[in-house]
Amino acid sequence: MIEYQAYEHYSRDMIVLGIESSCDETGVAVYSTTQGLLSHELYSQAKTHAEYGGVVPELASRDHVRKLPALVRRALDSAGIDRRELAGVAYTQGPGLVGALLVGISYARALAETLDVPALGVHHLEGHLLAPMLSPEPPPFPFVALLVSGGHSQFIEVLGVGQYRLLGGTIDDATGEAFDKVAKLLDLPYPGGPHLAKLAESGDPKRFGFTRPMVDRPGVDLSFSGLKTQALVQAKAIAVDGAVRGQDAADLAASFEHTVAETLFIKCKRALQETGLKRLVLAGGVAANQTLRRRLADLDAELSYPPMAYCTDNGAMIAYAGAIRLAAGQQDSTGSRARPRWPLEELPRVG
Ligand code: KG4
Ligand code: ZN
Repeated sequence: MIEYQAYEHYSRDMIVLGIESSCDETGVAVYSTTQGLLSHELYSQAKTHAEYGGVVPELASRDHVRKLPALVRRALDSAGIDRRELAGVAYTQGPGLVGALLVGISYARALAETLDVPALGVHHLEGHLLAPMLSPEPPPFPFVALLVSGGHSQFIEVLGVGQYRLLGGTIDDATGEAFDKVAKLLDLPYPGGPHLAKLAESGDPKRFGFTRPMVDRPGVDLSFSGLKTQALVQAKAIAVDGAVRGQDAADLAASFEHTVAETLFIKCKRALQETGLKRLVLAGGVAANQTLRRRLADLDAELSYPPMAYCTDNGAMIAYAGAIRLAAGQQDSTGSRARPRWPLEELPRVG
């Protein structure tokens, strides 16, 4: 079910197609500036990469090539529009895997060229940051965003679209990456985060007293590689015939998840204190984690997160961010290229 969310700012309708292909999900969506999200389609390559235990870039690019055209057709059909009604095409320009990005970029720009409409490259993390705007009650600016995904973990002060100040972030593993690595220790399938969260439901979060990383240091930087090592050492200590199973596995998963949630709670509190803001937006794949959501709800702040379907990578967030920027008159300059690395603070502001 699509939640219709119009961006009240616009009186003129502008319908934008959004394409996400930065990693292992092909996402396509249609967003209207007056009617909200009209459709979204997603193909996850998780099964393709599962047997390798992580994303294989070459396979990711090939799968995007295979799936993208059909997803675009389906997204237009379910939105009930003809492609000639599109006023712009937005696509993920970075950060991400360069080959995977190039598939979306080439397709989007060729389509825009054919239709004689503007194309616009969207920053993947801006897509995640703005995804809560697709919820029934979009958070007003300003807010602190905690962006926790497979590739990033950052605290950002968000004053408006394109007004971002990085407050801190991980100095090693991303939060989702730590979930995936600990899940791998427990022989859970890739991507491990959601499997670990499921297993943790029947575990005892207090059984293993892991230390919360970096909480004694000032600031909001994060680090997860030490926690991952603590989990590894513990797993080795309790393994039977080289594997951690049953209740032991559930307890380890729950203790790890609990420590992550406690650490992020402390850092979120600090980020809110530092900025004086009273609103927190949780975004990125790990925003799907229910234990984390429950813990952050205890903060003395209004908490928002995207609808479940738009936490992990998707086309809707790209269509939305693209529509806001295209409606403000921004578009690609000639020769724009994939940006596998792209600081969020370089984005131009809107409004
Ligand atoms: O935002 P995303 O789809 O991709 C990146 O931009 O990285 O995030 C994917 C990450 C993966 O590491 C995945 O394991 C994690 O988000 N994730 C979760 C949950 N659902 C997805 N981690 C913990 N609990 C979840 N429920
Ligand atoms: Zn992402």
